[in-house]
Amino acid sequence: MLKHTPWIKILGLTVALAFISACNEESQTSQVSGSSEASQVSETSLYDRIGGEKGARAITEDIWNNHSKNPIVNNRFSNSDPKYVKQKVYEIVVASTGGPVEYKGKSMTDAHITMNINDMEFNAVVDDVLKACEMNGVEKKERDEVLAILWSVKDQVVNAKMTTKHLSPL
Ligand code: HEM
Repeated sequence: MLKHTPWIKILGLTVALAFISACNEESQTSQVSGSSEASQVSETSLYDRIGGEKGARAITEDIWNNHSKNPIVNNRFSNSDPKYVKQKVYEIVVASTGGPVEYKGKSMTDAHITMNINDMEFNAVVDDVLKACEMNGVEKKERDEVLAILWSVKDQVVNAKMTTKHLSPL
């Protein structure tokens, strides 16, 4: 199997992040009108706005807990090592929101290609993630940005086209 560099592995998320960052940059500095001294309002990264490291860890923990209680997807994780999955999810949460951690996991396609994941499961995972954000005080605007990131990898996760190449141990 081809080896990819980590940033290529999460290309979908990176593209989404770049898109979202570009949108944020446009709105990052806004003039406050009506004030004698025009002041500037800076907006921080999505990572900072979801609570930085503490927020990302707490959200990751709640994503795992929500998945474990969600009958639509919990069977998928019954053989998983919680410590491993949580670390990978933490890395991707931080990396995809502009935080200072590199994602060192499989590409979204490689991670999910043999699972034949359907739309209902994808939506259930998205719901669990957004619920975890809400549980940790993430506001609607930021939750919408998280939703956009998740949506950007849908094609890599749902019904990914499996070929015999993916069944090969080599
Ligand atoms: C919504 C976007 C999703 C993202 C961002 C995501 C992210 C991840 C990440 C980062 C990993 C770890 C990859 C690695 O091993 O290096 C992973 C593994 C996994 N994902 Fe997803 N995932 C998503 C959707 C889903 C869905 C819809 C399902 C099915 C219900 C699912 C089921 C799994 C399973 C079973 C694993 C393997 C866990 C293990 O290694 O034991 N994921 N996912």
